[in-house]
Amino acid sequence: MHLAWAMKDLLRTADLSRRDLALLLELAGRFKTRPYQHRSELANQTVVLFFDKPSTRTRISLATAVARLGGVPIVVGPDELQLGRGETIEDTAKTLSRYARVFVARTYRDEDVERFARAATIPVINALTDRHHPLQSLADLMTLDERFGDLREVELAWVGDGNNVCHSLIEAMSLAGGVMRVATPDGYAPDPAIVEAARARGGRITLVRDPREAVHGAHAVYTDTWVSMGDPEVERAARVDALTPYRVDEALMARARPGALFMHCLPDHRGEEVSAEVVDGPRSIVFEQAENRLHTAVAVLHALVEERLVGERDDEEEGVWR
Ligand code: CP
Ligand code: NVA
Repeated sequence: MHLAWAMKDLLRTADLSRRDLALLLELAGRFKTRPYQHRSELANQTVVLFFDKPSTRTRISLATAVARLGGVPIVVGPDELQLGRGETIEDTAKTLSRYARVFVARTYRDEDVERFARAATIPVINALTDRHHPLQSLADLMTLDERFGDLREVELAWVGDGNNVCHSLIEAMSLAGGVMRVATPDGYAPDPAIVEAARARGGRITLVRDPREAVHGAHAVYTDTWVSMGDPEVERAARVDALTPYRVDEALMARARPGALFMHCLPDHRGEEVSAEVVDGPRSIVFEQAENRLHTAVAVLHALVEERLVGERDDEEEGVWR
């Protein structure tokens, strides 16, 4: 069976329909339960993983996911491709489409990943850009789903910088039907266009300034680094100043729902956005999130290669089978 509207690329979480999200979480759960069942979707094929920024989890989980589906991952940095010497994104994408089955890219600008996707005839996956981190949000929702069951009942607090991880979580929570309260200082709020689009799809997203207001009643509290990989290093001091009141420590966690969990995409910076006590403590589920990066990566690769995803349009209309 083949969907007329099969979605080619995963560039941001909002590319997915609600049923795509449900399918990916279900697939990821199956791959987690039976990780070594023989699969051959990618047998005899390569997946090119291009990283223009450092990565531990995304890079290794995706390479492992490719191997679990029977394929061979080829991980490259910018200086290893002619891209680093000025070959265009379009020429690179067209060339790689003749060799590989999937192309994965971590870049600074979102436009670069979008250009890869437009020029490539193979699926392109965003492995983090300055504005989005869709793979992380899928692992996070899988983790919340495992912990709480019904995502529509979950209240998630985001505390800190309204960055790429925050954007993708806003999109994911709005698809899943949960509540998300985002507390940021002035100047660090998530992109209003992303928030508005999520709300237009039914997202229950609230923006506040006070971290205590965001965590009140929350089942889980999420934070991320104050200085992301795309942020200019000269901004560091100003960021630390603005974001210090947003550190997640035991006092802030005590204001959340009793037994509330702590989440972080990692890498974390103990003593900056989170205290060591919290991230290393019993409420922390950061390594569950990290593990689920692998299972959701297998699910995404499988679903894109098998053309199982229909994309965002399916929320409005039923998919057409051909
Ligand atoms: N969370 C995450 O994307 O980690 P890496 O930067 O190590 O890939
Ligand atoms: N916001 C962080 C996430 C790292 C996984 C960054 O972009 O650097």
